[in-house]
Amino acid sequence: MVDRSNGYEKVAEEFLACRGSGRSAGIGAAEVREWARRLPQGAAVIDLGCGAGFPLTEVLVAGGLEVFGVDAAPSMVAAFRRNFPGIPVACEAVQDSMFFGRSFAGVLAWGLLFLLDGEEQERLIRKMAAILEPGGRLLFTAPARAGVWDDMMTGMPSRSLGAVEYRRLLAEAGVRVVGEYEDAGQNYYFEAVK
Ligand SMILES: C[S@@+](CC[C@H](N)C(=O)[O-])C[C@H]1O[C@@H](n2cnc3c(N)ncnc32)[C@H](O)[C@@H]1O
Repeated sequence: MVDRSNGYEKVAEEFLACRGSGRSAGIGAAEVREWARRLPQGAAVIDLGCGAGFPLTEVLVAGGLEVFGVDAAPSMVAAFRRNFPGIPVACEAVQDSMFFGRSFAGVLAWGLLFLLDGEEQERLIRKMAAILEPGGRLLFTAPARAGVWDDMMTGMPSRSLGAVEYRRLLAEAGVRVVGEYEDAGQNYYFEAVK
């Protein structure tokens, strides 16, 4: 079977051993919690590359949001379903996903964008902007500095287009950057509003 998870299916067990058990206190939780507070209560949010859902999906659920997930790794999705029975999750690549055929007040893509090649990232930024409702908020992580490196977990190539290019692509897609910040794990966030 073709792997669409950029190597994460193969390392799912190892990944979940460190990320999957951290619950709401893991890296990124504080930043996503703050972002979730800026969304209306009960609003629909899609978590792209949701993994098993800890800690970030849990933060969204605890924030009173209606959450949907997408992840391309079958083992991640199976763990997500065990962790969040009843929350819709699609096992598919974001490149092919129809995102449940609906729009969202929030789109989160944590640790995902830079796993894709440059053209796929550009397309995904346009797709994420397209499914946002007017006034909706997008949050994704990617290094501010442009470059290519091997992913620590999978050894597969990752690439950042750099902050200047991400800002340009977001503006072109009709979303305005309203914040950029870094967390304790040195993940760099782009927050934008449609
Ligand atoms: C670094 S992990 C982050 C997981 C989760 N967001 C978290 O905070 O723990 C990247 C996730 O993206 C998923 N993924 C990788 N490539 C993908 C793709 N093309 N489409 C959908 N999911 C993908 C992987 O299976 C993995 O669960």
